[in-house]
Amino acid sequence: MTTITAIEGDIVNAPADTLIVNLFAGVAEPTGATAAIDRALGGVIGRAIASGDVKGKPNEVTVLYPAPGTVAATRVLVVGLGPADAFTGERARQAAGAAIRKARDLGATRVATVLHGTGAGGFDVALGAQAVAEGTILALYRFTELRKPAPDRHEVEDVVVVEHDGARLPAIETGLARGRAVADSVTLARTLVNRPGNVLTPRALAEAARQAAAETGLRCEVLGRDEIAALGMGALGAVAQGSYESPAFIILEHLPDGVADDAPPLVLCGKGVTFDSGGISIKPSQGMGDMKGDMGGGAAVLGAMRAIRLLGTPVRTIGLIPATENLPDGRAFRPGDVIRAMDGQTIEIISTDAEGRLILADALVYAKRFTPRAMVDIATLTGACMVALGAKVAGVMGHADIVARLRAAGDATNERVWELPLWNDEYGKLIDSDVADMKNSGGRNGGAIAAGKFLEKFVGDVPWAHIDMAGLEIPDGDGGPYRPKGASGYGVRLLVAFVEGYATEA
Ligand code: BES
Ligand code: MN
Ligand code: ZN
Repeated sequence: MTTITAIEGDIVNAPADTLIVNLFAGVAEPTGATAAIDRALGGVIGRAIASGDVKGKPNEVTVLYPAPGTVAATRVLVVGLGPADAFTGERARQAAGAAIRKARDLGATRVATVLHGTGAGGFDVALGAQAVAEGTILALYRFTELRKPAPDRHEVEDVVVVEHDGARLPAIETGLARGRAVADSVTLARTLVNRPGNVLTPRALAEAARQAAAETGLRCEVLGRDEIAALGMGALGAVAQGSYESPAFIILEHLPDGVADDAPPLVLCGKGVTFDSGGISIKPSQGMGDMKGDMGGGAAVLGAMRAIRLLGTPVRTIGLIPATENLPDGRAFRPGDVIRAMDGQTIEIISTDAEGRLILADALVYAKRFTPRAMVDIATLTGACMVALGAKVAGVMGHADIVARLRAAGDATNERVWELPLWNDEYGKLIDSDVADMKNSGGRNGGAIAAGKFLEKFVGDVPWAHIDMAGLEIPDGDGGPYRPKGASGYGVRLLVAFVEGYATEA
């Protein structure tokens, strides 16, 4: 694990093999720490800017090699921040990620960095430190646990934030600790999504939840197949019945100090399908392996609960993760079956591949026993949502206030959401059944909305929103400087910001 600490000092003399400074676009004369390095190196950064080669474009990384007797470090990296007037926390996270990745590629072991964009009149210092910690940890992530150790693999051992103004150190340390808590929780979510279905079974997911709870002081309870049946969770039970692996219903609670244990909580529900074959309505084999990530919503909830606990967010929060496989078998549920959810409503199964909404229905019914202040569910729910939005942004639908809070949280974290309608006149009939209270699929058109209309039947009058993150759990292509190949950990930072949005309210 890469350690990240802060010291007071001058980056020019930092005890490190690699120094990271930054540059805004359009700056002719560097200022602050960049200027100090530039002076120490005899003006090489100024000349690089004057040549037009170095522009300060977002995430541009320039590598400089100091002459002996100038600075002790082997190399200096100058990372671009883009225009000063367009600077954001996301720019800082990306800059930190781009620079540290370059540093690791070059064999850096000990890195010293400045904060990005926190100079006079700039970005909040604690938020800036949090962004650097998040960008650094997330960019260095690799999923290596299932292969033999590569002898030439190299890790950055420590990163030290160098700050010349000692009065800012406490805020920096607070920000670094927050960034560590959040980024390690995203890392947990990523690792769970990256683990294949044979490794991450529902019980293994429950074990990961227990472990995170034991480490952080979350309350954790796990219900198995018999308890799920005894509660009447017939929808979760139906999805799980074709699988040898027992389902697990995972309950996590963060009860902050001084908050009554019956205070109306926020409830976060995450879909935990550890492998989705489609069941009897089996999926095409092409790309089916990615359905190991069908617990991405559950991983986001677990990661967010862990982070919220570590941050000590003063809001009672409950996380629910219905976990199961979806496999075909002689005991599997079938198209045409009519099943009964925990609240007694009946569901005609059109497709056993529309399983996520089934397990979430029972979770939402269960959630209502806590008289929630609000509920949010998050799920890799429909291919239709990917078709609509292109797997760059998640779909969100539901109660206007919750949707607005999620949009704000998404903009702040760059884990964005975009609203789809749940208009009843237009979409309510999509899931009408001739034989049951509803059916579980409304066909191809409006598929993401039909899933939302289905879930809405189980929320009653609790303010609620549904996030469809299908495709975001394992994005294809370049995910940006702090998002390496494989699982993204999408949703953790979004949900943390959403819950923290309530922290300032009574
Ligand atoms: N887990 C899938 C949705 C999905 C698709 C997630 C692609 C990630 C990437 C979900 O359980 C599913 O199979 N949905 C069906 C619903 C349909 C049968 C109504 C779908 O989208 O095809
Ligand atoms: Mn499915
Ligand atoms: Zn699924």
